[in-house]
Amino acid sequence: MRTPIIAGNWKMNNTPKQAAQLIAELKPLVADADATVVVCVPAIDIPAAVQAVKGSKIKVGAQNVHFKESGAYTGEISAAMLKEAKVDYVIIGHSERRQYFGETDETVNQRVLAAVKAGLTPIICVGERKEQREAGYTDALVTYQTLIALQGLDAKEVAKVVVAYEPVWAIGTGLTATDEQANETIGVIRKAIAGKYGRAAANRVRIQYGGSMNPKNVKGLMAQPEIDGGLIGGASLKAEDFAKVVGFNK
Ligand code: 13P
Repeated sequence: MRTPIIAGNWKMNNTPKQAAQLIAELKPLVADADATVVVCVPAIDIPAAVQAVKGSKIKVGAQNVHFKESGAYTGEISAAMLKEAKVDYVIIGHSERRQYFGETDETVNQRVLAAVKAGLTPIICVGERKEQREAGYTDALVTYQTLIALQGLDAKEVAKVVVAYEPVWAIGTGLTATDEQANETIGVIRKAIAGKYGRAAANRVRIQYGGSMNPKNVKGLMAQPEIDGGLIGGASLKAEDFAKVVGFNK
């Protein structure tokens, strides 16, 4: 059985002070969670978040990582820096980075390799745009995005990563994939992983759904057999809402 993983992606929200405050509110609300709980915070918030989660099971994640170990890459942050700051997870290849910051499947792959090498758990985002779904390319696209992202990892490493299926048309729009759509596409991703890395790895890898997941729709989505968790944007910015998503089975 896979342990569910609910991760908040705060995106570019919350200053360090606000981060500490939000986590302080969240802590008692998720104390008895059955899921892995992660908050992926802006880089500048990491020290405050790491301090704030002390005494709880909440893990801290980053929202990006550079693929080189060090060097002349102004503005970038390495995997070793995140690791030393006590970050455990890192979102890689979010559609907003693909759309606004030129992220490609190849750079996603390089970042995944750097993260895994440093002992971070990547949360690898894949997902189709509206016109790609309408044209019938969803399955081929998420298969390609997933397999390229994982290239160079062995089956044991693949078993430990997290994949987030986030249909771009469902992000921040209030539109959610139906429970069945999300389950089906996540099933496609798992099958692709099984084809290349074997059933054992595919059965262990945790695959989240992301895109307007909230306290209202989380139960139905999480009841689907392929869906192992959620990557939550808007609803992760209020402690009460995020705690309700974390407590989907209560
Ligand atoms: P929303 O939950 O705000 O739609 O964002 C989803 C997302 O992009 C999480 O990474």
